[in-house]
Amino acid sequence: PLYQSMLGLSELEEKLRKAFGLTRVVIVPGDSETSDRTRRELGRAAGQVLRGALKPKDVVAVTGGTTIAHVANQLTSPVALKDVWFVPARGGLGESLDYQANTLASTMAKRTGGHYRLLHVPDHLGEEAFASLMQEPNIREIVEVIRSARIVIHGIGDAMVMARRRKLEREEVEEMKADGALAEAFGFYFDRNGAVVHKMQTVGLRLEDIVNTELVIGVAGGKSKGEAIAAVMRFGHNDVLVTDEAAALEMVALL
Ligand code: G3H
Repeated sequence: PLYQSMLGLSELEEKLRKAFGLTRVVIVPGDSETSDRTRRELGRAAGQVLRGALKPKDVVAVTGGTTIAHVANQLTSPVALKDVWFVPARGGLGESLDYQANTLASTMAKRTGGHYRLLHVPDHLGEEAFASLMQEPNIREIVEVIRSARIVIHGIGDAMVMARRRKLEREEVEEMKADGALAEAFGFYFDRNGAVVHKMQTVGLRLEDIVNTELVIGVAGGKSKGEAIAAVMRFGHNDVLVTDEAAALEMVALL
């Protein structure tokens, strides 16, 4: 094995499930930071969880990132999911095209025979532009669909890594750092206790929507993400976590 732990994976799953009050934890062996195979396995495992949860007429809100891209690119369904809709969870957050939520929602739909809707909102909107965009009937309509999602599937990142990747202004980053930002998920930044300390101005899912979503599935792995994953789990609104052994061991060490 690439990685050796004292606990078996199923014991580790149970330990994290209880500690973070989740309904289900799935851990794949290895460290996705150093192993392509683990990265693919993580995507495959998360895809299985998602497929197993889908019901007719579901709306699934999807975030961006390389991890969810692995989920999307391997997602399959034995029967076409003709009445399932995949939508991006938020508007543009500054990711490259391959990893944007819009791209991943459309990939998931195409691979499973489902439908998708896209949200065309540029990154880093000013307040005025944001407010007038929200008056647009087309935008309002898709935003309503997004907010009605029964399932959210999302990645988790380290706050500073994500801030850099999304080219946030230095001032914004300094402020976030001072506020203790440690983790990022769905455009929100969290401190170690899971409190939201910063958010990106874009439309789509609000915090209250995430809180009210029936099934929230977090997918993230890699040793260096352990602390960030724990922070988002402390936010307390995830139902399922799909992770890898390396991140899980880091999380256990924080308990
Ligand atoms: O929100 C978190 C990021 O989307 C995670 O991105 O999967 O590429 O590390 P990643």
